Amino acid sequence: MLVSAKEMLNKAKAGKYAVGQFNINNLEWTKAILLTAQEENSPVILGVSEGAGKYMCGFKTVADMVKAMIDELGITVPVALHLDHGSYQGAKKCIEAGFSSIMFDGSHYPIEENIAKTKELVGVCEELGLSIEAEVGAIGGEEDGVIGGGEVADPNECKMIADLGVTMLAAGIGNIHGKYPENWTGLRFDTLDAIQQLTGNMPLVLHGGTGIPADMIKKAISLGVSKINVNTECQLAFADATRKYIEAGKDLEGKGFDPRKLLAPGVEAIKETVKEKMELFGSVGKA
Ligand code: 13P
Repeated sequence: MLVSAKEMLNKAKAGKYAVGQFNINNLEWTKAILLTAQEENSPVILGVSEGAGKYMCGFKTVADMVKAMIDELGITVPVALHLDHGSYQGAKKCIEAGFSSIMFDGSHYPIEENIAKTKELVGVCEELGLSIEAEVGAIGGEEDGVIGGGEVADPNECKMIADLGVTMLAAGIGNIHGKYPENWTGLRFDTLDAIQQLTGNMPLVLHGGTGIPADMIKKAISLGVSKINVNTECQLAFADATRKYIEAGKDLEGKGFDPRKLLAPGVEAIKETVKEKMELFGSVGKA
């Protein structure tokens, strides 16, 4: 069932668990995540970056594929199709293409401009019944060519953006995309606590879910994080399983070169990763 992320995230915030956003790259990725969500009876958010949207031949191709797949696979758990780190233009394109949720990442604009653009998109989403995520304080690391400096958000600015009526709010708290460096000092729980105190019931979003230790994830959820984004970890699991298959020479045995066989171990590895995350985030059985 394709739905906005609003109800699932409000439920998660109230129930003190988090819904995973898993980024998709192609048909196999999408299928693996949807099937796992159904098996685990968990709500799920499919994340699509602008780069991944381009790779998959445009947002309309993605939206139509996801809708058809939900139908064909008989997926009954709530699924949100969400633009990840969208530009203003990208957000508008996704709304047109039939996404159920968007992120407008105006964190690189001066706060006044972030507020103005977020406010306009909140109005559009409200009218159409879509959910909208905004961001304050850039997430560090590199994702799809977008490089963030890893800022720590100003809780007062978070409150200003939350008050615009967004569905969920991403705030930089020392988290970064991709693998964490050896000298990473961990999440800034003091900042997260201050943000949650000011924003109350607003579901908070933790980006850069790959490589954050389980105890930090649990603590973040206890401090109001209700959506956690995971991308790199599924990519690493997929690549590792695919490499093992080829290194073992399995593509050279019989019809092992058939893409349906060659990509199968990678798909299983994504499913396993998604399942582990759903268990850690506490969303299993919460559909
Ligand atoms: P990772 O790639 O570090 O898991 O981050 C994903 C993310 O935050 C997508 O927005």
